[in-house]
Amino acid sequence: MIPSDVKATLSFSDGSPNMDLPLYKGTIGPDVIDIRKLYAQTGKFTYDPGFLSTASCNSTITYIDGDKGELLYRGYPIEQLATSCDYLETCYLLLYGELPNPAQKEEFVARVTNHTMVNEQMQFFLRGFRRDAHPMAVMTGLVGAMSAFYHDSTDINNPEHREIAAIRLIAKMPTLVAMAYKYTVGQPYIYPKNDLSYAGNFMRMMFATPCEDYKPNDVLVRAMDRIFILHADHEQNASTSTVRLCGSSGTNPFAAIAAGVACLWGPAHGGANEAALNMLEDIQRNGGVAKIGEFIKQVKDKNSGVKLMGFGHRVYKNYDPRAKLMRETCHEVLDELGLHNDPMFKLAMELEKIALEDEYFVARKLYPNVDFYSGIVQRAIGIPVPLFTAIFSLARTVGWIAQLNEMIGDPEYKIGRPRQLFVGSTARNVKPIGER
Ligand code: CMC
Repeated sequence: MIPSDVKATLSFSDGSPNMDLPLYKGTIGPDVIDIRKLYAQTGKFTYDPGFLSTASCNSTITYIDGDKGELLYRGYPIEQLATSCDYLETCYLLLYGELPNPAQKEEFVARVTNHTMVNEQMQFFLRGFRRDAHPMAVMTGLVGAMSAFYHDSTDINNPEHREIAAIRLIAKMPTLVAMAYKYTVGQPYIYPKNDLSYAGNFMRMMFATPCEDYKPNDVLVRAMDRIFILHADHEQNASTSTVRLCGSSGTNPFAAIAAGVACLWGPAHGGANEAALNMLEDIQRNGGVAKIGEFIKQVKDKNSGVKLMGFGHRVYKNYDPRAKLMRETCHEVLDELGLHNDPMFKLAMELEKIALEDEYFVARKLYPNVDFYSGIVQRAIGIPVPLFTAIFSLARTVGWIAQLNEMIGDPEYKIGRPRQLFVGSTARNVKPIGER
């Protein structure tokens, strides 16, 4: 953090003394006002539910310019990473700060690949779930349970434990997501095959059976890999902040990542990809393109509770750059599969066009986000809709780990402990039960 020459002065209309607050500059993005001494000096807190104006940490990992629609991982534009790198190179970049050279990549890929199998006992743990459980319920349990299976990497303050936990999580998430899927469809689990790429191996574990192998299709594998890259990190979003807050108590890395999985599930966050596709299917069932006008009317009616899922973002007030790349991938996948006339894709394109021209969306700067198109791609590949968010969690795991490790290594790190404005009852006496 670079101190700024500018200071902010806080003044009070009741004559209390002014307070000078230091400002810090980042390398890019808004400056921050340091309020850490505010309570000690004035006895007052700041109030910012939803963190609309609050930087919860300093970070070197991911930068978003929401007005420009720019996303950088460690300084590299997402467009370049999505076209020139694969997911494991992106993981290396997020974890260690630089893109790997060929030798570093080979060593990292070998390390991850070495850990793709999960403890055989985990399948018995998985069997405790109902077959119709939501994959995110299963994933929250499985990731949390990893701390029970890998106790030799649970000390968050030990850099070696953190490193091995990171590699294990990145390596095993595809295996766990595929196992969760196979369990719901009643098929045997498919063990990882380590001569395949990260995405290719995942797709094989999803779609092969003991009777029929799955031959990865390059276009579809590349699309899956791109989904992973685009979802790998997104600075201090709800699930990442959850992971940081959870990890700030000193809990083990698996528990902190499980907290991230649980948070990601919500429809306002990672669950939006599933919700967006369900929404498209609903519109399709109820009349398709001809009914878009009616649907948009409902979305604009605040009493309806209906939202255009896959639209809007807290930070992007412009087209989400990930949505642009996902739209491109959508075309490639549908062309490869001969599905360019897919009614759901046509519906999505039409809905996007109408929404982008509508005053309601224009005035609020609501643009499609990554989830608007990722569901169509995944559905075309053959991924069942309830599994979409689990795949998001697989991809985001590396971002959560990188952010967690950054926090632990930060000399300013403290347990996260927000304060509150209390508006409840003041102290009162308990009456005996007969008098209440
Ligand atoms: N459909 C209709 N209206 C919307 C939508 C939407 N999808 N998103 C925002 N608005 C309206 C909102 O009602 C509000 O209107 P008004 O000013 O009249 O009260 C205005 O736009 C500002 O919205 P907000 O709720 O204050 O914005 P937020 O920053 O708190 O919420 C959001 C961001 C992503 C939760 C929200 O846009 C949303 O619920 N979108 C749909 C769910 C979705 O697609 N989420 C995925 C986010 S990207 C993937 C990820 O990072 O997880």
